Amino acid sequence: MSVKYTPVQWNTSKWVYDAVMLAGIALFLWLFISVAPGALNHEFPVNPPIANARAFGACAFVMLTVILCIGPLARLDRRFLPLLYNRRHFGVMTAAVAMTHAYFVLGWYFAFFRGAERWETVLFANTSYGQVLGFPFEALGIFALLCLLILAATSHDFWLKFLTPPVWKAIHFLIYPAYVAVVGHVALGAFQSRGNETMAAIFSAGALVVAGLHIAAAWKERRVDPHAAGTDWVKVGNASDIAEGRAIIARLPDGKRVAVFRHEGQLSAISNACAHQNGPLGEGRIIDCIVTCPWHGFQYDVRTGRSPAPFTEKVPTYRLRLEQDEVFVDPVPNAPGTPVEPVQATQEAMP
Ligand code: HEM
Ligand code: FES
Repeated sequence: MSVKYTPVQWNTSKWVYDAVMLAGIALFLWLFISVAPGALNHEFPVNPPIANARAFGACAFVMLTVILCIGPLARLDRRFLPLLYNRRHFGVMTAAVAMTHAYFVLGWYFAFFRGAERWETVLFANTSYGQVLGFPFEALGIFALLCLLILAATSHDFWLKFLTPPVWKAIHFLIYPAYVAVVGHVALGAFQSRGNETMAAIFSAGALVVAGLHIAAAWKERRVDPHAAGTDWVKVGNASDIAEGRAIIARLPDGKRVAVFRHEGQLSAISNACAHQNGPLGEGRIIDCIVTCPWHGFQYDVRTGRSPAPFTEKVPTYRLRLEQDEVFVDPVPNAPGTPVEPVQATQEAMP
């Protein structure tokens, strides 16, 4: 089987997204370089290479924090959904900013060494991994940077198709170990040597916000009582709670999410995971039985789970049952693209 390479398709929203992101990075770097030397503790005068290294390091940390907040924010409140579009561009830009940080660090602190010798010094000159004070925190930075580079290199759709979505998604979970490593890199490095409490508080708050938002989003998704008494079918909610042209999303016992849509008074259920990059189909809007994925616009007929011709993408469908107003889903998915007759919502079930 071969996978065809298709160049990135640019559109106005991508240009605007990238322009806003570049302007934000430039503003952050300018503010950090002009404000930080006065506001932060420094053990010796800060020259331009050090100021640049610190500014790009802090910028990469903030960007990683924002990237990790976008997913749970969009799950908690759909007004954040526009931030999800082109999140991959954000990731690639973060890898570039982190690379620039490493470039300035290597060019200043390790300038005496050349080529392989330089990396040997970074990795092996300090091997005090057993102690907190003086821990070789650079190794954590290198690990994080490697993760970001792998994610950036495999971010194109070609790799998604070539590796298959489950493998691609598993690789992209590297963002979490990378973030933990960066938190360790900063906590065991810059904070220990300079003891700056303002910076420590800002960075800890960032890490706490990321953890808190993930816990809140997971909690929100668990609130639906998943099991119907005495049956294997899963109760996912009430038909009257589903707005026309919209869906409710529920987690099934196997951990997968199902999206139950209402269209012209009828109910249909498909997998919530888009075949493109697992985008949340249940957050899309239906027009003429076709839902549009909110991430990059792939479309599916909710009665069949198939993309309209000439496209060939398919997602699994699910069988539905209605008891008065209560909607039940058979948790065993149909093969992707299997048509399922929609269920007519009863009169009482309609709001
Ligand atoms: C994802 C990759 C990385 C991120 C996000 C990151 C982030 C940071 C941050 C936020 C700081 C503190 C900046 C400040 O003091 O205001 C820092 C400092 C530092 N990082 Fe990294 N870093 C990364 C990779 C690396 C790598 C690969 C190296 C080494 C090759 C490295 C070496 C250093 C050093 C030596 C400092 C101390 C600089 C100083 O305080 O003067 N970092 N890093
Ligand atoms: S995830 Fe890209 S279109 Fe759905």
